Amino acid sequence: MMPTNRPPSTPETPTRPQPPSPTNTRPLRLIAALGQWGDVQPLSNLFAPGNGNGIQMVTWCQDGARLVDDAIVFDADVVILDPSLPSFALEDIQRLYHSEARPIITLGAIPPHGEWGSTLYRAGIKGHIELPLNDDNARRLTALIHSGLQDALRERSSASYIPQIAPQLAQVIATQGWQRAVIAVWSAKGGVGKTTVAENLAMLLGVISNRKTILLDANMAGGNAHIHLRLSPQRNIAGLARLYEGQKRLDPKDVLGYLTPFRNNLQVLVGIPRQFMAGELCFQGEAGRDFTRALIETLHSMSDFVVMDLGQDTNSAVHLQALRQADQILVVVNSEKASLLDTHEVLDTLWEHVQMDRSRFRLVLNRFHPEHGLQRKEIVEVMQLPEVGVIPEMSEKVTASLNSGVPIVLNGGGEVAESLVRVGTTLYPPLGQIWGQRGKFKPKGKGLRQRLFGGTRE
Ligand SMILES: Nc1ncnc2c1ncn2[C@@H]1O[C@H](COP(=O)(O)OP(=O)(O)O)[C@@H](O)[C@H]1O
Ligand SMILES: [Mg+2]
Repeated sequence: MMPTNRPPSTPETPTRPQPPSPTNTRPLRLIAALGQWGDVQPLSNLFAPGNGNGIQMVTWCQDGARLVDDAIVFDADVVILDPSLPSFALEDIQRLYHSEARPIITLGAIPPHGEWGSTLYRAGIKGHIELPLNDDNARRLTALIHSGLQDALRERSSASYIPQIAPQLAQVIATQGWQRAVIAVWSAKGGVGKTTVAENLAMLLGVISNRKTILLDANMAGGNAHIHLRLSPQRNIAGLARLYEGQKRLDPKDVLGYLTPFRNNLQVLVGIPRQFMAGELCFQGEAGRDFTRALIETLHSMSDFVVMDLGQDTNSAVHLQALRQADQILVVVNSEKASLLDTHEVLDTLWEHVQMDRSRFRLVLNRFHPEHGLQRKEIVEVMQLPEVGVIPEMSEKVTASLNSGVPIVLNGGGEVAESLVRVGTTLYPPLGQIWGQRGKFKPKGKGLRQRLFGGTRE
């Protein structure tokens, strides 16, 4: 049967989706991805605007190739899918399920003939009803939708959820060892790429790998992360330091109130928005040291990874204490001889006078270009530190990502991203595989999404 008309409730033009918010009480949006109008009709009756089911049908998709785009345009929560729809690709069920803003679940509308049932469940549907649809079996959908979505949300908020990953891969990942860690990103010089490395590592761990991660901007020369990531500077490390000054202790509840959620499992403790704030007593001497110790201990207890962006100045009590407490210190250097020698000198002082354990230091060579005239081997020899990553010089890419407010590893691939992934893999080995799988489930309608969402982050 060919469709003769469209359901009257179907909007003809996409409306701008509302950003998700916990207080959002709009009805759930349903897309009917079905071949026959006869099957769509019971849904359009049952889920007409203003119905009491808390679910509203927003469009009828007749072309499998358009399904993911339609789901994003209409900000859908659920798709009722006839798998015999023309041009439908089975992997779209996973694309929808792992879509960035929220899971979009799929329920199968299974044709009476054929083997679709088990195939669809393997592909990730959350339930099914049988075709043809009528008022009776369509009514079963209400309960299926609510329970399927609850499942999906529970899964997404669990520690083992990894976005954009096939179940078989998740099993492989579970067998790989890794350790929770506090990671300091530091250099003896400004402008070498500390913030770039720290932010992107935090994205790789907290957003891409979905491990509970906190990016701590503890740079006492002035915080940058909130500017790069377009976060409000209102809740910042200085507020927390003053709180500690008053009560002399911190617990996770105190800290939570100062964290800014970024995306997936990444939270940010914004740094001092103005440099003069570093002069406050709570950051100085013993007070600064005690606060930093309490802060890092608390953050560590709340997360899998703490990534700290530190300033270069080792006279700052905050920086020094953070270096002392880090499990790993990534020393960022550029391929410039004078800066390498400076860094080497500062490191010598740290090792001798501050008695810092040398084995925790690693080298990250940033802005590397063979034409700079130094070889990687020479640099490692001068620094006497094991190198965990070489990031190429690529100003256009890095600047473009700064200007867009989207860190480079969330902004597609490229050599800089790939080399940052290699650094991240030394901290969290499954990252390599997660990154490899990532492209496969990317929503197809990226450009479209960007157009629709305008200024919001991709
Ligand atoms: N691999 C790179 N290629 C080109 N430019 C880079 C690279 N890494 C960082 N930059 C640029 O260098 C500047 C300093 O980087 P930043 O991360 O802020 O350094 P720091 O935190 O050490 O002061 C920024 O303008 C940044 O865009
Ligand atoms: Mg910086």
